Amino acid sequence: MTVFDDLYKDVIDYFGAEPDSLLVRFQRELSAGGRALDIGAGQGRNALFLARQGIAVDCVDPSEVAEEQVWPCVLGDDLPVRFFPQRFETFVPDVDYYSAVLVFGLMQELPRASIAALVERIEGWTRPGGLVLATAFTTADPGFEEVSRTWKEIGKNSFSDGAGFVRTFLEKNELRNMFGGWEALHYLEELGPEHSHGVGAPHRHGRVEGAFRKRPGAV
Ligand SMILES: C[S@@+](CC[C@H](N)C(=O)[O-])C[C@H]1O[C@@H](n2cnc3c(N)ncnc32)[C@H](O)[C@@H]1O
Repeated sequence: MTVFDDLYKDVIDYFGAEPDSLLVRFQRELSAGGRALDIGAGQGRNALFLARQGIAVDCVDPSEVAEEQVWPCVLGDDLPVRFFPQRFETFVPDVDYYSAVLVFGLMQELPRASIAALVERIEGWTRPGGLVLATAFTTADPGFEEVSRTWKEIGKNSFSDGAGFVRTFLEKNELRNMFGGWEALHYLEELGPEHSHGVGAPHRHGRVEGAFRKRPGAV
């Protein structure tokens, strides 16, 4: 069981039923064909949104509960989604490359070394013209001060609660710099919209969102 299994088992759409607004904004870019990869796909809100438009999506996520929730829906609707119940670190694609990679809300859950490995994997799994859509938490998050004071520091702006949760907060322009060789089609750092998870209290996050296109000639 992962920490997310605990969150997902009682709430079918813990992160909401709607796709992320960044994905909606760039959905036309993904309809050109090819296969998308949703890393940390969770309960499938983003992948299913694309699949319902006929876009093929591979999902990677270690949550067994998410797997049990996503698969019945996918099989019932005969959608072009494949779910790989594992961490991205051990995932080996059976396709040459992905035309788009989604990384929604994953980076804040990862220690620094895993974020670096994630960016490296994305570089290897894409070709020129490929698209990356990513969101993460920033140091402007209202929860940053308390987490940095009460959780154990495990890296730069990165903390562990000792019970399985990690929080890593990106600094200004950090996400842009991670994809420095890519063309930034869109980049926004802001206080995100108020929302809640299940019956939890409403709250907001310091959020960065970026859309990056791999440049011609890049490897
Ligand atoms: C905050 S949730 C976001 C879920 C989804 N992307 C969304 O926007 O609704 C983060 C997800 O990342 C998954 N995750 C955590 N570590 C992972 C890893 N190393 N590889 C792949 N997925 C991971 C968790 O299981 C969880 O479902």
